[in-house]
Amino acid sequence: MRNIVLTGFMGTGKTAVGKILSQKLGFVLVDSDTEIEKEQKTTITDIFKRLGEAAFRDIESNTINRLSSLIKTVLSTGGGAVLRAENMEALRKNGIIVCLSASPETILRRTSKNKNRPLLETDNPLQTIKELYDFRKPYYEKADIIIDTDNMSPLQVAEEIIRQVKV
Ligand code: S3P
Repeated sequence: MRNIVLTGFMGTGKTAVGKILSQKLGFVLVDSDTEIEKEQKTTITDIFKRLGEAAFRDIESNTINRLSSLIKTVLSTGGGAVLRAENMEALRKNGIIVCLSASPETILRRTSKNKNRPLLETDNPLQTIKELYDFRKPYYEKADIIIDTDNMSPLQVAEEIIRQVKV
């Protein structure tokens, strides 16, 4: 049985879907951002502020490399994890890559509830989302399975993933 790796832009529901999915499959749920915060003993926002995005990406790659050797795991990754080919390679070793997608408007609605996404702390977050999403689209499209979550609840998304991976 392979791991299920959840990828996708911020606010596409990876955390909420991962919780349900791991319960349904009896898999462990691991979130790369939570692991980074535990390892670094600080928040993602603080890492971005003190060290910058490039340093965060190096930390993220190390963490993903370590987590990708786990088994029977639903692994939820940060929205930018797909940007590095080495991350995708590591994640594919034991896992099926699932990408959750959503429209920029849905993403804005879902992410505006809290302030823990340093990349969206701009004057025009909707514009930022659109630009980042456009740039990242080809990376997200490398997933084995892509699910548009716009009109779906996290439970429906989890059920759809199970249907498609047939684990
Ligand atoms: C990021 C997404 C965040 C987090 C960091 C960078 C990104 O994770 O890793 O703020 O580059 O898209 P979520 O997708 O879980 O919000």
